[in-house]
Amino acid sequence: MPSVSPSLSAAMSDAANSVTETMQRILPKSDFAEQKLFEAMRYGVLNGGKRLRPFLVLSTAELFGVDEDCALRAAAALECVHCYSLIHDDLPAMDDSELRRGKATAHIEYDEATAILAGDALLTIAFEILADSKTHDDPNVRCALVSCLAKASGANGMVGGQMLDLIAETTQFDIGAITRLQRMKTGELIACGTEMGGLLGKASPQHLASLRAYAHDLGLAFQIIDDLLDAEGTSAETGKPVGRDEKAGKATFVTILGHDRARQQAKLLSEQAIQHLSIFSGRAKNLEDVARFVVDRKA
Ligand code: IPE
Ligand code: IPE
Ligand code: MG
Ligand code: MG
Ligand code: MG
Repeated sequence: MPSVSPSLSAAMSDAANSVTETMQRILPKSDFAEQKLFEAMRYGVLNGGKRLRPFLVLSTAELFGVDEDCALRAAAALECVHCYSLIHDDLPAMDDSELRRGKATAHIEYDEATAILAGDALLTIAFEILADSKTHDDPNVRCALVSCLAKASGANGMVGGQMLDLIAETTQFDIGAITRLQRMKTGELIACGTEMGGLLGKASPQHLASLRAYAHDLGLAFQIIDDLLDAEGTSAETGKPVGRDEKAGKATFVTILGHDRARQQAKLLSEQAIQHLSIFSGRAKNLEDVARFVVDRKA
């Protein structure tokens, strides 16, 4: 049995192409002396990647009949934040990684200061994109999108999770603490994908709650597999160094549960995620398929 359904593969690749083209168009260019910064921003973004978070925005927005150009702008904003998080995650002060998406990391290709600044600029441009009236004609929706992305990215979301992740190198965390860490570090930006899709479509509170529950389980499953790939995968497949979590002495689901139980847990979370979509009566096929993909993936 193929690990990814052909229809999902085609849908993900279409979405990836469209969001890449959108970012290509939106990201600024410069002929001034600071053009190195603009190039580094593009380098950090236009370098492949699964574009999972944009896919979640687009697939959710589609459920609510949202205009595709609007959804693509929100998807691009979220991917800019994700790419910024990767650029900073790879810095010597954090994971000290030289390979990302099969290419040299931004601080290796440019230099540390430029990589930091490119990350900063990608973070801020995301909010510029969301606040633009081209993203949605209702200012209340734009405000909700900005708030959603800010919360998911900041101290109670990805950045806070990254802090905990560094602390997990030297502190013994139990399963509850690891779950919270992973939810913040990875889960919040993933949940922001489905939430933004729903916000764009003015989804009901019931639909938003189901999407949040789905994405919460999906995000945890996603990070468990990321940790398993670090322990079991190959750099050729993942496009990033492997074996780094163990080397850093980092507590993860894999170190706490062991490989088999971690994989079982990811599968369970994926099935649970799909159950939260029952409110859509089978219409959320892409979201269902992506939950299966997340646990079967090799990269
Ligand atoms: C990697 O995310 C960082 C984590 C949050 C685990 P992805 O696996 O989505 O990376 P890309 O975007 O496909 O490169
Ligand atoms: C990084 O987690 C998550 C964020 C960038 C927020 P990891 O450090 O495990 O991601 P990879 O394995 O480098 O992609
Ligand atoms: Mg990290
Ligand atoms: Mg890392
Ligand atoms: Mg990892």
